[in-house]
Amino acid sequence: MQSSTTPELTTFAEDVLRGLSSTPKSLSSKYFYDDEGTRLFQEIMKLPEYYLTGCEHEIFSMQTDAIFRAFANGDRAFDLIELGAGDGTKTAVLIDHFLKQEADIAYSTIDISQEALDALSAKFTSAFPSLKIETRNGDYFRILESLKKSSGRRKILLFLGSNIGNFSREQSLDFFRNLRRVMNTDDLFFIGLDLQKDPHVIVDAYDDAAGVTAKFNLNLLRRINRELDADFDIDKFMHYANYRPIEASARSFLISQERQSVYIKAVDRTFEFEQWEAVFMEMSQKYNLKMIDDLATESGFAIKQNFFDSRNYYCDSLWRPAVS
Ligand SMILES: C[S@@+](CC[C@H](N)C(=O)[O-])C[C@H]1O[C@@H](n2cnc3c(N)ncnc32)[C@H](O)[C@@H]1O
Repeated sequence: MQSSTTPELTTFAEDVLRGLSSTPKSLSSKYFYDDEGTRLFQEIMKLPEYYLTGCEHEIFSMQTDAIFRAFANGDRAFDLIELGAGDGTKTAVLIDHFLKQEADIAYSTIDISQEALDALSAKFTSAFPSLKIETRNGDYFRILESLKKSSGRRKILLFLGSNIGNFSREQSLDFFRNLRRVMNTDDLFFIGLDLQKDPHVIVDAYDDAAGVTAKFNLNLLRRINRELDADFDIDKFMHYANYRPIEASARSFLISQERQSVYIKAVDRTFEFEQWEAVFMEMSQKYNLKMIDDLATESGFAIKQNFFDSRNYYCDSLWRPAVS
């Protein structure tokens, strides 16, 4: 059954089919954000264990003026373009300050979740009535080319919340190089990255005591049931998260608690799950400064300035295109 809020349904079905036919089985985290997923992620961002949002919020609140000066670089007119903005709460802190500095800014965002775009649009329109806002529904990997169409103003691309942590190193480099291709030399890229720290702190962030992250992961099975007409029995799966300190990455899985079959009508396939079989859901890479520098350099950027929170848990890194 096609949901009117899911323009990517065909791709969704194809991706689910590919993921559940692979060994090991996997599901793509980009489909977490239906209505309920968007709501649950807002709950996650408020959890005591999920330090990432608080750290980035602290950086934006305490260093807004330094960020503004680095963005403006003497030119107060620029377009902010955010990739995967979610509900935009942290971005609102920056926009509020920029507008108070009488910056001439326009804001646009690309998100795969129409629900997230609707919530952001309502929030920004009422908080910033004079701000020019454009929302675009789609996969940011697919619509990067459209960023080339220049408004004649400088672009500052925002990629916050350590979203990049969900990509492998190769995917990250590929993504950054594609971004670099659509940027002019005076454009900037502002990216949030979660830093390496006490592994206990990290693993707790993906396995909170209240079980909200578990609900968030399991919600993707509900979405598949609803949108792809499947018969997952949610109670027969459990959430499991771990952190691998050598690779510096957290991983989350859904574990089948018994041997079972699941039928997905939209792809007309039955999938067999062994008892304790894991479905890989998401990776969240953690970085050190050398890794960040290497990623920037290898994809054609140079770091202009790094911003850290007071605990050095998190880094918002501002990159400019390297001129060869
Ligand atoms: C973890 S949330 C982070 C939101 C925000 N950047 C923050 O820091 O709070 C990820 C957001 O990116 C969107 N998203 C994930 N993968 C995407 C993709 N491939 N293309 C477009 N949007 C995507 C999701 O819908 C969601 O709104």
